[in-house]
Amino acid sequence: EIFKNSFDASKIVAQEIAQLIKAKKEKGKTCVLGLATGSSPIKVYEELVRMHREEGLSFTNVITFNLDEYYPMRKENKQSYHYFMHEHLFNHIDINPENINIPDGTIPIDELNQYCIDYEMNIKKAGGLDFQLLGIGRTGHVGFNEPGSHINSGTRIITLDHITRSDASSDFNGIDNVPKRAITMGVSTILRSKRIVLMAWGQNKASIIKRTIQGEISSEVPATFLQNHTNATFVLDQSAALEL
Ligand code: GLP
Repeated sequence: EIFKNSFDASKIVAQEIAQLIKAKKEKGKTCVLGLATGSSPIKVYEELVRMHREEGLSFTNVITFNLDEYYPMRKENKQSYHYFMHEHLFNHIDINPENINIPDGTIPIDELNQYCIDYEMNIKKAGGLDFQLLGIGRTGHVGFNEPGSHINSGTRIITLDHITRSDASSDFNGIDNVPKRAITMGVSTILRSKRIVLMAWGQNKASIIKRTIQGEISSEVPATFLQNHTNATFVLDQSAALEL
């Protein structure tokens, strides 16, 4: 779906999420959201916060699982995805803090394997992801599933691609300060979500969007695996759709 601009597009995405939360609430059920960071989802979070403040949208039945976190990374660090999510969404809504799950960048390395297995298990125990929000990196990563990520990959630690670290360098005041690794949900974790919306804005995403939507399905561009998902939508602004 191609929109004139990212404002209009983000409103539609936020409305879909709000509808889902309300529909689940009416049935007395929890709503399990997979959430993303980066600049792409910011306006969706702004709109959800607005709906909470002005329209009484409640998040008391919502459980969230974030896609990824840098490793190592302290939660208080302003570059952490933990900080990002609280700043842009969690501090402004009525979600139960116990229902917030973000990969923990402080887990000791020898406990990481078990931590990642538990993260997967907790998604399953919550009933699986009802909705997964995604951005896309210029390497074709979703979450931090960099080129080479297998379709069957689960939550794990991954080495970040040079392009990804270079794109993050302005946030970290230079590429040398960007962590070399991250914890990410796997491709299979994402694909098991019942509904997926990937958002991309701006011309610097146009070429990877073309490869993702029209290119061959391959782990070289992990986002291409979404082509086979039965309920996935790419929400684009006109610039991101320029090469289609
Ligand atoms: C990071 C995140 C991804 C995100 C990507 C794109 O690498 N781990 O989840 O999709 O950035 O970021 P942006 O939305 O700022 O272009």
